[in-house]
Amino acid sequence: MDKVVNLAKRRGFVYPGSEIYGGLANSWDYGPLGAELKNAIKQEWWRRFVQARTDMVGVETALLMNTKVWEASGHLKEFSDPLVECKKCHERFRADHVDTDGACPSCGAKKSFTAATQFNLMFKTFLGPAEDKANVVYFRPETAQGMFVNFKNILETTRRRLPFGIAQMGKAFRNEITPGNFIFRTREFEQMEIEYFVRPEEWEKWFEHWLSEMRRWLKDLGVREEMLEFVDIPEGERAHYSKRTVDIEYKYPFGQKELYGLAYRGDFDLANHVKASGEDLRYTDPETKEKFLPHVIEPTWGVDRSVLVAMLEAYREEEAPTAEEGESETRIVMKFPKWLVPVKVAVLPLSKKEELSSVARDLHAKLAEHFACEYDETQSIGKRYRRQDEIGTPYCVTVDFETKDDGKVTVRDRDTMRQERIPTAELVDYLKKNLAH
Ligand code: GAP
Repeated sequence: MDKVVNLAKRRGFVYPGSEIYGGLANSWDYGPLGAELKNAIKQEWWRRFVQARTDMVGVETALLMNTKVWEASGHLKEFSDPLVECKKCHERFRADHVDTDGACPSCGAKKSFTAATQFNLMFKTFLGPAEDKANVVYFRPETAQGMFVNFKNILETTRRRLPFGIAQMGKAFRNEITPGNFIFRTREFEQMEIEYFVRPEEWEKWFEHWLSEMRRWLKDLGVREEMLEFVDIPEGERAHYSKRTVDIEYKYPFGQKELYGLAYRGDFDLANHVKASGEDLRYTDPETKEKFLPHVIEPTWGVDRSVLVAMLEAYREEEAPTAEEGESETRIVMKFPKWLVPVKVAVLPLSKKEELSSVARDLHAKLAEHFACEYDETQSIGKRYRRQDEIGTPYCVTVDFETKDDGKVTVRDRDTMRQERIPTAELVDYLKKNLAH
C-alpha cells in the first residue's frame, strides 16, 4: 500500500488535498495522470453501460436536492453510523470499528467510551444567505436518488419499455466518522450507479445479468479473480426490502473490504417517492395497459475504489537487465490494461542532438493526433524507460541515429521489454493494432 501511495504522489496520480496548507484530513486531489486514469474508467463505464446498450439512458442530476428526497428515501432517519467518543482524548470512532469494551486505539485509556449515538452521515449546508433551519439542504450521499426522482421524466421523454436502466456517475458526500486508507474511504468521492427497472417477476434473471456484467468489468480492469470475494449478504443483515444483496469485496493490503455492490431493491424507492410526493410513478404496460411500479436492480461502483484497485493490481517490482552486460536492477512497472493507461506512447530520441530531436518531435506531433503521448529527451534512455514503466506506458518509441537512413524506429514493449524495429510510416497502424483491447 505504501509503495502505491508513494508512487501515486511521486508521479502525479494522487496528491494529498490542500497540501501547501498542511492538507485537509483524508482529502485527495487527482494529478495529471490520476485524472487521466479516472477519466478512462468513467468513459469506459459510460461507453459500455450507456452508449453501447439500447436498454440504458444516462443522466447527470444535481448534487443538492430537495430535503424531501432524503426524507422519502430514509436517509434523514436511517443514514447514520453508530458513534462512540473516548472520554479521555475525545477521539471519535465508529462503534462497529472498535472494541467498545477495550482500550481506546488513540490514547490507550480503558473503559473510556461513551455509549453509542447515531450520527447522520449527510453533509448539511444552507441554500441562500439565511442560515436558518428552513434553508438546510444536504449534499447527496449517493447518486441513486437523482435517478429515482427523474423516473417519471425519463418515462415521458424517452418512452422506454421495461426492462431499462438509468445510469449516472458523479460526486457523492458522506461525513464518514473514520475515513482513511488513502482513497478507499473519503468524505467526498465518486460513484457510478445504475438503477435497472424490471418486471417484478424477472428480478432474478436481471440480478444474474448484472452480476456477470460486474465480473466482466472487474476482469477488464485487470483485477485477479483470487483477489475478489462475492459475498451474498444473509437475510438478517440485508435491508428488509431486499431479497438479495451481493457485496463485491477486494483483498486490499489493509484487509478484505467492499469494492462494489449489487442490490435488489424491489419497489422500495419508487414506492416511497410515490407516497411522499403524491406523484404517480407507475409504469403502464404498453400491451395490457396494466399499471405497476417496476422493481429495481442496483449495481453500484465506486470510482475512487476502482482507481485504487487498478493501481494495486498493476503495481509490480521486477528484475530487469540494465544497459550493462550481465547486470540487472529492480524496475517498478505499472502493468495496467492498455485501455486504462494515462500515456499510451512515449517518444524518446536517443540523444538531445538536433538531428534526432527534430525527427522525434515531428513523430510525436504525428502520434499525438491519435494517442495520449509524451515526449522525453532528458537523462539516459534506461532512466527514461524506467520512468515510463512506472506510469504504465505500454510503448516507448526510440528515434536513433539509424532512423534517418532506414526510416525505422525502435518500439519497446512495457511488459516483455522486447524491442522491435518498425518503419515510421507503419507506426500509427502498429500502435493502433497493439493498443486495441
Ligand atoms: N446507492 C447505493 C449505495 O450508495 P453504498 O454501498 O453505500 O451503496 C456504493 O455505496 C459504492 O460507493 C461502494 O461500493 C463504494 O465503492 C463507494 N463508496 C461508498 N462510500 C465511500 C467512501 N466514503 N469513499 C469512497 N467510496 C465510497
